[in-house]
Amino acid sequence: MNAIPAIPLITAPPMIEETLSSDERVLLINRIRNLLQQQNAVLIAHYYTSADLQELAEETGGCVSDSLEMARFGHAHAAQTLVVAGVRFMGETAKLLNPEKRVLMPDLHAECSLDLSCPADSFSAFCDAHPEREVVVYANTSAAVKARADWVVTSGMAVSLIRHLHEQGKSILWAPDRHLGDYVRSVTGADMLLWQGGCVVHEAFRADALQALKAEHPEAAVLVHPESPAAVIAMADVVGSTTQLIHAVKSLPNHTFIVATDNGIFHKMRQAAPDRTLIEAPTAGVGATCRSCAHCPWMAMNGLRNLAQVLETGQNEIVVDPIHIQPAARAIQRLLDFSAAQRR
Ligand code: 13P
Ligand code: SF4
Repeated sequence: MNAIPAIPLITAPPMIEETLSSDERVLLINRIRNLLQQQNAVLIAHYYTSADLQELAEETGGCVSDSLEMARFGHAHAAQTLVVAGVRFMGETAKLLNPEKRVLMPDLHAECSLDLSCPADSFSAFCDAHPEREVVVYANTSAAVKARADWVVTSGMAVSLIRHLHEQGKSILWAPDRHLGDYVRSVTGADMLLWQGGCVVHEAFRADALQALKAEHPEAAVLVHPESPAAVIAMADVVGSTTQLIHAVKSLPNHTFIVATDNGIFHKMRQAAPDRTLIEAPTAGVGATCRSCAHCPWMAMNGLRNLAQVLETGQNEIVVDPIHIQPAARAIQRLLDFSAAQRR
């Protein structure tokens, strides 16, 4: 199989955000606080989840972070139950690194279009066809795909890892995000064969509309997550993972920022730099299918109601096929070790 395999057609589910009365919200928050304590559980939330979930995670000793730090935090924490508010690959990563712990998720239907774009069978056949290449997969993949990889990588580490492999003369087979892969290839000059998956949220950002918005706010810095199309990335002042974009809001001198990533991140950005003006990058314009729809419908499946329910019932436990645990955990651990070495 020398051609790059066609990817399955992914249809995102409708966006359904939880609506609660203020009484119900307060009751649920108190109930979850108690349940976390009773069950020796810790809440680990991604930046794209709701403000309520993020605040609850922080005030109960859990964490709110990007996918790399979520994995690190869950691994280091003593709690016997990890409750992952995010999407399925994040829950699976937690389970792979901590097979002895119970990992729960508010909704097991919280998928990711990148993960769905990369079925393990066709991916494995693609790897078989290119045995000379080092296989590097983005964290946004299933346990079975990670098990086939030499390395797992997150957006925060992608450039440094691929640069490192390129310097060692390695050629790369990369999956599943073609935009992130294309960006990393352009920065590092590495020889990369790219799977053709995409993120339904970031692919919707429009360079033409961004250009017009930038003309209205010439003083604004443009922050872009690298799952976005190349023409959007080309307009960025900073390209980076969710954590790196939050850091940019705090550290750059600008007061206005146009942000091309899921708008769930605005909660943390406002906490980190309350005096800044944040504007959503546009998803409108020629050929657009949505208008400022920059929010992941799968992330939105995490709510207070289903979180309380899984803590009460123990439902929605993440189970990973035992045959994938050792090889997938090894590929993730290599990332954690590489990242730790970079920080030293
Ligand atoms: P981060 O690793 O930057 O948090 O990205 C995860 C993700 O799913 C972005 O869409
Ligand atoms: Fe996946 Fe995109 Fe949602 Fe991130 S925002 S979880 S990459 S679909």
